[in-house]
Amino acid sequence: MDSIGSLGLQQGEGAPSCPQEGLPCPSNSSEMVQECLQQFKVTGAQLRQIQTSLLGSMEQALRGQVGPAPAVRMLPTYVGSTPHGTEKGDFVVLELGATGASLRVLWVTLTGIEGHKVEPRSQEFVIPQEVMLGPGQQLFDFAARCLSEFLDVLPVDNQGLQLGFSFSFPCHQTGLDKSTLISWTKGFKCSDVEGQDVVQLLRDAIQRQGAYSIDVVAVVNDTVGTMMGCEPGVGPCEVGLVVDTGTNACYMEEARHVAVLDEDRGRVCISIEWGSFSDEGALGPVQTIFDHTLDHESLNPGAQRFEKMIGGLYLGELVRLVLVHLAQRGVLFGGHTSPVLRSQGSILLEHVAEMEDPSAGAARVHAVLQDLGLNPKASDAEWVQCVCMAVCTRAAQLCAAALAAVLSRLQHSREQQALQIAVATGGRVFERHPRFLSVLRETVMLLAPNCDVSFIPSVDGGGRGVAMVTAVAARLAAHRRLLEETLAPFRLTREQLAEVQAQMREAMAKGLQGEASSLRMLPTYVRATPDGSERGDFLALDLGGTNFRVLLVRVTTGGVQISSQIYSIPECVAQGSGQQLFDHIVDCIVDFQQKQGLSGQSLPLGFTFSFPCRQMGLDQGILLNWTKGFNASDCEGQDVVCLLREAIRRRQAVELNVVAIVNDTVGTMMSCGYEDPHCEVGLIVGTGTNVCYMEELRNVASVDGDSGQMCINTEWGAFGDDGSLSMLSTRFDASVDQASINPGKQRFEKMISGMYLGEIVRHILLHLTSLGVLFRGQQTQRLQTRDIFKTKFLSEIESDSLALRQVRAILEDLGLPLTSDDALMVLEVCQAVSQRAAQLCGAGVAAVVEKIRENRGLEELTISVGVDGTLYKLHPHFSSLVAATVRELAPRCVVTFLQSEDGSGKGAALVTAVACRLAQRTRI
Ligand code: BG6
Ligand code: GLC
Ligand code: GLC
Repeated sequence: MDSIGSLGLQQGEGAPSCPQEGLPCPSNSSEMVQECLQQFKVTGAQLRQIQTSLLGSMEQALRGQVGPAPAVRMLPTYVGSTPHGTEKGDFVVLELGATGASLRVLWVTLTGIEGHKVEPRSQEFVIPQEVMLGPGQQLFDFAARCLSEFLDVLPVDNQGLQLGFSFSFPCHQTGLDKSTLISWTKGFKCSDVEGQDVVQLLRDAIQRQGAYSIDVVAVVNDTVGTMMGCEPGVGPCEVGLVVDTGTNACYMEEARHVAVLDEDRGRVCISIEWGSFSDEGALGPVQTIFDHTLDHESLNPGAQRFEKMIGGLYLGELVRLVLVHLAQRGVLFGGHTSPVLRSQGSILLEHVAEMEDPSAGAARVHAVLQDLGLNPKASDAEWVQCVCMAVCTRAAQLCAAALAAVLSRLQHSREQQALQIAVATGGRVFERHPRFLSVLRETVMLLAPNCDVSFIPSVDGGGRGVAMVTAVAARLAAHRRLLEETLAPFRLTREQLAEVQAQMREAMAKGLQGEASSLRMLPTYVRATPDGSERGDFLALDLGGTNFRVLLVRVTTGGVQISSQIYSIPECVAQGSGQQLFDHIVDCIVDFQQKQGLSGQSLPLGFTFSFPCRQMGLDQGILLNWTKGFNASDCEGQDVVCLLREAIRRRQAVELNVVAIVNDTVGTMMSCGYEDPHCEVGLIVGTGTNVCYMEELRNVASVDGDSGQMCINTEWGAFGDDGSLSMLSTRFDASVDQASINPGKQRFEKMISGMYLGEIVRHILLHLTSLGVLFRGQQTQRLQTRDIFKTKFLSEIESDSLALRQVRAILEDLGLPLTSDDALMVLEVCQAVSQRAAQLCGAGVAAVVEKIRENRGLEELTISVGVDGTLYKLHPHFSSLVAATVRELAPRCVVTFLQSEDGSGKGAALVTAVACRLAQRTRI
């Protein structure tokens, strides 16, 4: 015998029929009545089986597994915490679906002060049957009319009304104000609503009505309203239980256990929708022929089988079916029924409550039965009372088994053997059947002996709780508006991008002509991409990106082999004296030569120097100005090759033959050009950004000659330094620029490249924090630190394979304590910033390829772009956004992007090889 049995719930005691309850029972016919009511008895073992099976069904749904039978649904509700009591404001609450055919509108004022309550005003409207079963639009129009009618008599403004919608049907929620009806339950069956967002349907109806401007900010299940409106007692109330027309419960689950959510911390309120529990093994044995008949005749046969044994909509109907059965058997009412008794729905929950109440006495029962057109004898009243009690006791016990399953779940998920918990209860069954709660409480004690449960009746039928959720939702919606406003200037239209493209074209043309332009359009003296006949061993240097590298490049008939080593350039060297910088470079070369066994050999050297240089030949380049993080003194205006040669001379031991100086864009183009002859553009999106391309020599004013081509280093990073980009520049761009070592310079680069995107994001985050939108408005020291937010974080945060919780982990490593709402907003900030960067870059590439196409007078140009740079390569969406923008803005160019695998060093060696080949040829 199980423990419940031993505690006395077996053998019919659990489902008391009159004799066990000590009620006076009529002596004759008692066997037939007993036999009938016996079916409503549920044993302890059966209750325990329901508890276990329902728990299993809940856990299965949490894991995201769908069983063969439609089980409980476990729907996340977007409510993450129980109220703090600090919420305040005036809210309109519209309740639909909790209480039968009625719709309730409330005006709730939250004071934000604990213990200080303002009584809500409310009005109830009866929904006509034809509206409950008619077109969805008619139902929502009806709701909108009720709202207006209610508000008409209140002294309220028409503006800024915030509404919480209590909609008590199973819904897939995807936000606090977005909820799709899965299926109607309880007596509703309106067409064209299932599968639709009910918030939108309500909004549309309010708009059609046109009388009030109301913002529907939250949608809430009645169980959630019940839980959230509960006055916090000793501890928070973390379960909401409703037994009204239907039945359901919600509770606070650990978010990490909810597979459909991408969360590892905190809790989330789950609406169980236990009404749809339907395990045949557990429910079959407790179902009666009356349950089967009721289900069969209902609007939704086969669905909500558990609810149909508990919910108030069905209790009266079950009683009616039993009474009809007993009357037809001649046991009751002298064998007579009445047309009213025979019609579906004629016994309501209120009737059952009245007849069941022993204190009301037989006279009350008589009166109710007479209203049903019956002519009861004295004994009939007592039997009817027994029937009501049997039906309701079973309902309370089944509800207790379900609640016990929730308590077991809480015990398990919180790893607490002894659980102390408050359950908020709501619904007319609790309000009108005092015995329901006592049977429920008793049964829960037996089924969940380690739980100390206090039952707290809900306030204002859950309306206050709905207002609480609405208050939170309204705050979040206001935050979202501020976020949108902040990010709006980053969202560029096609027209704006086309304008960037056009301005870039103009600046290119002017730069080539030697007119004033922010694009310098520097000739590189590279006139051809490699032809494959180059051979030899070359040294290469690669300075100006993330890494400084020294390379040995062997170009053979079998291809190109590279050995290289990365050396660091400490910030103090990059920003120290020029002499120091070049001495350091030569030291690294010497070290490399020693390690490679090349000491003493004078190999031809190509120097990738990724800064703007005015070249007069391949081996001459005057540094115009430093960019990115470099600022070594006495270099600007000097020939970099000379500076390197002087350092070599100072270091007497080495002999080096510097043949070519090459920008990284050129190195990249050459390196990719070795594989693909169509590669005539080199693009870098890394620490900095820049482009080079093959221009017709006749267009280059500063170099003699009219035939052939020359590679032009556009130095597009400086685009906009003449103020032409000011329309697009945001306050955050201005802050980043002002704090940089070269204010006013490289404005295009500062909107695009890796050195700056993290900083832009950091400035936006600071702003949003100051508005109270992020991090609860708390500024942290870490976030105020320059460069703390690396651009690689954007790539990591935006990676599709990363869950939101990993995003949060990245940010928490930065000392930013955030909620999941914060994490989502940070993600959106990153996306806006990197999207703008990629689109601007795409607009630039579109300008370049269109120019090449027009230069060549082609209808359509097929061209490849060699690309390198950490941002382009590591960011998950950057490359596709660039390509999409180019397709949009340069539709007549078929552009292939080739990622350079070997860095620009290889390209520099190839330029050197071409130069050596040409030099040899000239000598011959
Ligand atoms: C590589 C080069 O091609 O790309 C570097 O070898 C260059 O010198 C770099 O500057 C750009 O990328 P990042 O991200 O290192 O600046
Ligand atoms: C039904 C609904 C559910 C609601 C319950 C109580 O079961 O499907 O959403 O909470 O009734 O009203
Ligand atoms: C900066 C440099 C430029 C270089 C680019 C990419 O913009 O000025 O020469 O190509 O960064 O590294």
